[in-house]
Amino acid sequence: MQGKRVLLIVSGGIAAIKIPETIRRIRELGGAVRCVLTRGGEQFVTPLSLSALSEDKVYTDLFSLTDEHEMGHINLSRDADVIMIAPASADLMAKMAAGLAGDLATTVLLATDKPVICAPAMNVRMWEHAATQANVATLKKRGIIFVGPTEGDMACGEFGMGRMAEPADLVAALQTFFAAQPGPLAGRHAVVTSGPTHEPIDPVRYIANRSSGKQGHAIAAALAALGCRTTLVSGPTQLADPAGCDVVRIESARDMLAAVEAALPADIAVCAAAVADWRSADAADKKIKKQAGDDAPALNMVENPDILATLSVAGNKRPALVVGFAAETHDVLDNAHAKRERKGCDWIVANDVSPETGTFAGDDNTVHLITAAGTEDWPRMSKTGVADQLAQRIAQHFEAAE
Ligand SMILES: Cc1cc2nc3c(=O)[nH]c(=O)nc-3n(C[C@H](O)[C@H](O)[C@H](O)COP(=O)(O)O)c2cc1C
Repeated sequence: MQGKRVLLIVSGGIAAIKIPETIRRIRELGGAVRCVLTRGGEQFVTPLSLSALSEDKVYTDLFSLTDEHEMGHINLSRDADVIMIAPASADLMAKMAAGLAGDLATTVLLATDKPVICAPAMNVRMWEHAATQANVATLKKRGIIFVGPTEGDMACGEFGMGRMAEPADLVAALQTFFAAQPGPLAGRHAVVTSGPTHEPIDPVRYIANRSSGKQGHAIAAALAALGCRTTLVSGPTQLADPAGCDVVRIESARDMLAAVEAALPADIAVCAAAVADWRSADAADKKIKKQAGDDAPALNMVENPDILATLSVAGNKRPALVVGFAAETHDVLDNAHAKRERKGCDWIVANDVSPETGTFAGDDNTVHLITAAGTEDWPRMSKTGVADQLAQRIAQHFEAAE
């Protein structure tokens, strides 16, 4: 679900009260949800609760000057990977089957070329009615995917078919749907590095840096979401393994290089880790003891291997696209351009990590993408937003090269 965008159409049935929970679960898995609420739907769940949970505007009105200006009924579905109707009322399915477009939900559904998953919910008699069954058959014939309904006790006191699938089943249907999509990076392999490295001074002390790994992990997840086989080589972080990635955990820069080289060949390398430039030349095997009267021990530093530069000249194992990160605290663009030249990589993602930006520990990032064609300044956005946009750019790069 990572990075996937679901347009959720909520129509008028009591099962609409299960939708806030469904949104919460989709978002927990890294998906984004935007809601369209019908007039009927508004009677059961408020736009405010859907908006708070989806952290997005809820669309209700076809003829809204503001909404049309901001997004437009056509763009609502263009922006989505899939449309889910939950609950789908008998009324809405009848309108879809007839090709009506009298409100925002039905207009979006008539104007879309995106896949539609439909979760009906209604009284057992409404479900069994010949009209509803004929409409369902028509919609199935048009390729609409159905999840549920199920049999059980109904809000109206009856028992039978017509209960909407539970939130977990709706989410599972979305996951099954996305898993079956090949994705633009299917058949490719990416190696992504993330997090800091720890360079030992002795068995209990180490030199580290402030990298959280959030950006690198998000990139690995975004590439995996586009169907790419993704190996994430990560330094020590507090983060959960991103879904769908092979994760190799390492500590030092030398371990990271070994793990990256072991993961080759790859089509794509994204070096987002904050690899320590130096390590202690003579890391002790035993804890260095503090003795009264002794001077503080001197740290004798040597240079670490340069993973980005090594990958960029890896001969016939060089990934077709090598992307480096330049975390700078000053002269961000000048330093990043120089780094691209020096390392021989294809793209550099440059970001300002000076303390006042809050980038290292934070959830947002402001980056510049430097390629042979020039520099793109991306607006400040979440690290997952940067990851999704970068993964899309990588997919476009390979599509253009084919
Ligand atoms: C309390 C109540 C519960 C309802 N539950 C359902 C339902 O579960 N399924 C359904 O198809 N219609 C249900 N209806 C009827 C729809 O709300 C009605 O057909 C409405 O016009 C649907 O509008 P919409 O499809 O634009 O959302 C219910 C109506 C009421 C008053």
